[in-house]
Amino acid sequence: MSNLSHLSDASREHTIAQFIADAHEVLAHSGVTESSLRALGDLLRRLAQLPDLIPDHDLAAMHGSDSSATVLHSDGAEAMTLVLAKFSPTAETPIHDHGSWAAACVVRGRDRYRHWERLEDSATPSRAELHLLYERELGPGDVVYWLDPPDDIHSQQGIDEPVWELLLFGKNAMIRPRHYFDPTTGAVRVALPQ
Ligand SMILES: [Fe+2]
Repeated sequence: MSNLSHLSDASREHTIAQFIADAHEVLAHSGVTESSLRALGDLLRRLAQLPDLIPDHDLAAMHGSDSSATVLHSDGAEAMTLVLAKFSPTAETPIHDHGSWAAACVVRGRDRYRHWERLEDSATPSRAELHLLYERELGPGDVVYWLDPPDDIHSQQGIDEPVWELLLFGKNAMIRPRHYFDPTTGAVRVALPQ
């Protein structure tokens, strides 16, 4: 790999554009499968080594907390979108979905990632019973991925300090409504990212 420590903005844009091209190639070849999402995770792991990825300035707030996210690249509202996100250690994100597959790779910090399964479905869309499917602790270079709905329900929290992650979504998750789940009451609400 070339020396990435002195990348100009143009080189950085080129690296991200090449990443997106590589990701399209993976999906064109295999479609959205666990195997292709693992391959996208490998691409994210390489991209996570890009220097100066984490900005000095604050990103847009998300989940109504000090978590935040910014879009690095988007092919459109319903198309592939690359996001850099920061998850707070002070509170877990609400349990939510994105209406899309995604792969995520930790850039800096540690993440307690929880993946949830919805037990009761569609009969009462505003109510849901959730089951914790698995919990993982992720460090730099670790990857997690999820498939399209209904397999995209999760929550995250930084451990001791904020955790920074690259996420590649099949759709622009930052501008599309998502479901927020309350595991105590069973309430489900639809809202834009907050
Ligand atoms: Fe999420």
